[in-house]
Amino acid sequence: MMSKNVFDKPEDHIPVLSEIVVQFMRIFPGQVIVDATVGLGGHSEHFLKILGKKGSLIAIDADQENLSLARKRLEHFQDRIQFFHSNFENLAEKIEEAGFEFVDGIFFDLGLSSPQVDEGKRGFSFLRDGPLDMRFDKTSPVTAHYLVNRFSEKDLIHIFRTYGEEPRARFVARAIVEERKTHSIDTTKALTEIIERSLRISGKYFESGAVFYSGGAGMYSKKRGFSIRKRHPATRIFQALRIAVNRELEVLEYGLNGAISKLKKGGRIAVISYHSLEDRIVKHTFRNLSRDCICSPEILQCQCGGNQAKLHILTKKPLKPDQQEIQKNPRSRSALLRVAEKL
Ligand SMILES: C[S@@+](CC[C@H](N)C(=O)[O-])C[C@H]1O[C@@H](n2cnc3c(N)ncnc32)[C@H](O)[C@@H]1O
Repeated sequence: MMSKNVFDKPEDHIPVLSEIVVQFMRIFPGQVIVDATVGLGGHSEHFLKILGKKGSLIAIDADQENLSLARKRLEHFQDRIQFFHSNFENLAEKIEEAGFEFVDGIFFDLGLSSPQVDEGKRGFSFLRDGPLDMRFDKTSPVTAHYLVNRFSEKDLIHIFRTYGEEPRARFVARAIVEERKTHSIDTTKALTEIIERSLRISGKYFESGAVFYSGGAGMYSKKRGFSIRKRHPATRIFQALRIAVNRELEVLEYGLNGAISKLKKGGRIAVISYHSLEDRIVKHTFRNLSRDCICSPEILQCQCGGNQAKLHILTKKPLKPDQQEIQKNPRSRSALLRVAEKL
């Protein structure tokens, strides 16, 4: 069951950094814009209002349910939108399918939408019980259940370390492998309990007085008597599994390169990411494509002839939401926005 009706409570689904995104993408009436992660259509709604009757929007999402919600929210603009149920790794193809060779702007808002976090049945959240799923796209074959129950201890450690940056990955992987000797691990709750147990044994979490967790952002400490920022111990493991299930880092690199190849000269790409692994890929992709010389660093004299840069970076440092926005929309707190222009 959907926890809240997103159309009765649109204020719960405020698009992150939307004013800055619109400004930096320099959207004008009549342009063609791609929203590579349309989600609930919040950013797209802003874009469409500016694009006007002559503009076009290509709206992509890997999640069928979100696409339906976006279709509903944006039905007022339906004659100007083409929707695609697709992974954004196929973005270049989808732009051609939509009938365009190049576009004026491309936007990515990575990560999870509110219903994906709030609905237990989607299996993304350690705060709500549900099947161990975590797929954005229900038609893709690999679920978190498959990884947790079938992957070797070594592979689980690798996933937890690489994608979750979890220093005690070994303890969690060991506990999972022990547990599944007697029965399969089927739910988010079962996995969360295993993580909590294994990390408690390993030491640092659950210092005395810790009484509750609030979605990984903050919690109250009886001992210290004030609110402290602390992550739920399952945060990193759930993040790692989600990244592995959806091949998030791999498709991001591919999707960004595809997107940049489809931007017109002067067109802009804007990306909001929510954790350092994603942001690093955006930063490096932008940086690599903004170099004039693409020769290997070992070569002493340039052989490529220079002038190879394809991008001009507009945000040397990522832009972040201010306190006011974070207060209105706590999920925006980790957002990092990077923008570049095609040369
Ligand atoms: C943070 S939400 C986007 C919210 C949206 N900007 C709005 O205003 O409602 C991220 C969306 O990206 C989608 N998504 C994540 N990875 C994707 C991928 N590789 N390809 C396509 N969609 C993806 C998710 O399904 C989710 O709907």
